[in-house]
Amino acid sequence: MTLRLGDTAPDFQAETTVGPISFHEWAGDNWTVLFSHPSDFTPVCTTELGYVARLAPEFARRGVKAIGLSIDPVTSHEGWLADIKETQGYAVNFPIIADPDRKVANLYGMIHPAHDEVYTVRTVFVIDPKKKLRLFITYPQTTGRNFDEILRVIDSLQLTDAHRVATPVNWQPGEDVIIVPAVSDDEARGKFPDGWRALKPYLRLTRQPGAAEPAKQ
Ligand code: BEZ
Repeated sequence: MTLRLGDTAPDFQAETTVGPISFHEWAGDNWTVLFSHPSDFTPVCTTELGYVARLAPEFARRGVKAIGLSIDPVTSHEGWLADIKETQGYAVNFPIIADPDRKVANLYGMIHPAHDEVYTVRTVFVIDPKKKLRLFITYPQTTGRNFDEILRVIDSLQLTDAHRVATPVNWQPGEDVIIVPAVSDDEARGKFPDGWRALKPYLRLTRQPGAAEPAKQ
């Protein structure tokens, strides 16, 4: 199955390091980051899982639950988790799916046979509380992901869901945002009382809703 943005994230039942789960029920009303690993006891994945564990307060602040996936069984995951804590200094505090028959990997298109017929690529999915796919990025097995970027995209998605704005290139929280072209100037005057800078009629920058006012010079 080819998944596209806006599709419903496929539901599944799976064994995990915290017991069996039904994915949609486990996700509940949260945002979810589902990310795959080629297999257990691999070096890049070890660093990624440690880093995501370290980001737990950042995930919680945004209402996001993390869940990893690797094709090895739970008994193998458990041994690997001890190594992650030892080498990365953070205990993995979210479930890791065991997917030995590649059921979930195939459902989410995580096996790219021309890259590797057996092991999953490194895909990360961001799923919203309505279970819609909002982002996926696929990395090769030899490149570790940038989870700060995943948080940045979640910040953008949560902001743009709440306000009629978009975020420009390399945007970071607190920086100016773009008023979406579908909002007329008349409507924008009501929604963005601080006004905006129009570089072009279609490119209007305004202060991020909710961001602190810049300090007076
Ligand atoms: C890793 O996950 O660390 C890895 C997987 C395949 C090749 C190289 C590294």
